[in-house]
Amino acid sequence: MSSIQVVHSIDSCRLAVSKVRAQGHSVGFVPTMGALHNGHGSLIAAAVKECDFVVVSIFVNPLQFGASEDLSDYPSTFQQDCDLASTLGADLVFAPDTTEMASSTSLTTVSVAELSQRWEGASRLTHFDGVSTIVTKLFSIVGECKAYFGEKDFQQLAIVRRLAADLSLPVTVVGCPTVRTESGLALSSRNSYLSESQLQDATVISEALYTGKELIESGETDVVQIEQVITARVVQAERLSLDYVAVVDPTSLEPIDEVEGEVRLLIAAAVGETRLIDNMAAALGVVSNG
Ligand code: PAJ
Repeated sequence: MSSIQVVHSIDSCRLAVSKVRAQGHSVGFVPTMGALHNGHGSLIAAAVKECDFVVVSIFVNPLQFGASEDLSDYPSTFQQDCDLASTLGADLVFAPDTTEMASSTSLTTVSVAELSQRWEGASRLTHFDGVSTIVTKLFSIVGECKAYFGEKDFQQLAIVRRLAADLSLPVTVVGCPTVRTESGLALSSRNSYLSESQLQDATVISEALYTGKELIESGETDVVQIEQVITARVVQAERLSLDYVAVVDPTSLEPIDEVEGEVRLLIAAAVGETRLIDNMAAALGVVSNG
């Protein structure tokens, strides 16, 4: 049983954080939807390393789920999550109620134009507005901090960086590398929906990205060619249904025609009913990590 402090109300979170800040301590913040795995753990560990006091929020945000998505099935392992956060050295778990965080009477939405519309945004129309609204609200509650986000959700990271900059929020957004299983599959809370055989099928997603990355590192610059090779690798695996493959600029996430310098490979595919996303960095002739 962990001894970490858990608060549920916005006021009690604000109070706890403002007390430690008044003592001159730096604050690290890791927003999550719970069902924590080692990917989340890596963010908490990074925050603990760099900050005096670390807050982990656990809130399954209804605003970022579409009507036909898995809100009601989303996995919940609250006590285990508190134990993991505590073991890794976090100081406070903020687990707010839906009524306070996503009140049905709220009239305000935060929307980051352009960046939110493509890729995941095109498949999940209201998703990023839901993310941006809740993340802005969480930032306003926690206040000045370093906030840790995974590169696993690369488009989300770009959007959060942009909203923090555009709204001059007192938050430094830190991106952390994707944590993978030995077979290369990116850890995700949604992997818990997959059977053993589906988990094997899902490894093709990262294999396809590694194939694209190697192609770029060996000198291929033609994006059509690169996307074709990645697509072919996914299509070969009959039990995957590909949504998109894209080679994009790593900041604007706009599609590019020709690889110059560093790019990001993005992919989304469904295994059965479960939609998975992954991405990887690649640069011409350079071996970089994903
Ligand atoms: P969630 O999916 O719980 O993820 C919380 C954080 O963990 C995100 O920053 C995500 O990118 C990171 N993460 C997930 N899997 C990872 C992996 N394999 N390696 C490294 N980091 C990983 O993302 C959300 O929640 C929500 O959208 C949220 C930001 C909390 C807003 O509701």
